Amino acid sequence: MIMTRIIMSGCNGHMGQVITRIVSERDDCEIVAGIDKFRGVENKYPVYDEIADCKEEADAVIDFSAPSALKGLLEYGKRTKTALILCTTGYNDDEKKAIEEASKDTAILRSANMSLGVNVMAKLVTEAARQLDAAGFDIEIVEKHHRLKKDAPSGTALYLAEAANAGAGGKHTFVYDRSDRSEKRPDNEIGISAVRGGTIPGDHDVIFAGEDEVITFSHRAYSKAVFGKGAVMAALKMNGMQPGLYDMSAVLD
Ligand SMILES: NC(=O)c1ccc[n+]([C@@H]2O[C@H](COP(=O)([O-])OP(=O)(O)OC[C@H]3O[C@@H](n4cnc5c(N)ncnc54)[C@H](O)[C@@H]3O)[C@@H](O)[C@H]2O)c1
Repeated sequence: MIMTRIIMSGCNGHMGQVITRIVSERDDCEIVAGIDKFRGVENKYPVYDEIADCKEEADAVIDFSAPSALKGLLEYGKRTKTALILCTTGYNDDEKKAIEEASKDTAILRSANMSLGVNVMAKLVTEAARQLDAAGFDIEIVEKHHRLKKDAPSGTALYLAEAANAGAGGKHTFVYDRSDRSEKRPDNEIGISAVRGGTIPGDHDVIFAGEDEVITFSHRAYSKAVFGKGAVMAALKMNGMQPGLYDMSAVLD
């Protein structure tokens, strides 16, 4: 059996700890080191402030931290050719470009949602939009997350909006706030709304609203383990892959 050695970036955060538990229960992978600026969590592996300081070799880095860690991760990936599984959300356009550039030198998988269910839902949403958008249905997305989440709307809501827009031929713009205008809903937009509260791990509804009928695709994550499992599957899959920019479809197929 191939043993995949993992560096866990953001190891002392919520997702870092979920993955630490998932990996400890498997025998095909291990966490050889963690990266986190925050201390106060006991781990069985060494933890460094920055990935540049990490001495252990690995086959893949799983990152659930913040966009501020990206530069160091990309430099590390380019230098060591270690596969990067980028699960952090909230990257700006320049950061996305830097990821694309670095993927010429090392395998990078980036996905705003690592769960199997959401990735299958995105495919279904594209197909639904292909038929329903042409028939005049309006597309709206509502997402709900816990009160600690920093970015809004969620990366997953944007990913689902892009999936819907792909099915609609790319003609829509995304709208996050309609409070500053007073007009009927234009045809060529997808509205995206964010709700924040409590401990909700992540709910996403893609609503196709037509005349006298509504179709809603819903995904509910009941715990963060769904993202952790997908991230570990991605690390195993990316071990030894050619340089390039991948998404979760590389893991599903
Ligand atoms: N892709 C997915 O499926 C998915 C699922 C859940 C969360 N996320 C995203 O993952 C990220 C982390 O989520 P979380 O709930 O674990 O957050 P968290 O705040 O609990 O954990 C993040 C950890 O990263 C550390 N960190 C932040 N910046 C750092 C840096 N520059 N260098 C080193 N360590 C740094 C923090 O100290 C913290 O311990 C967020 O962007 C979140 O939106 C993605």
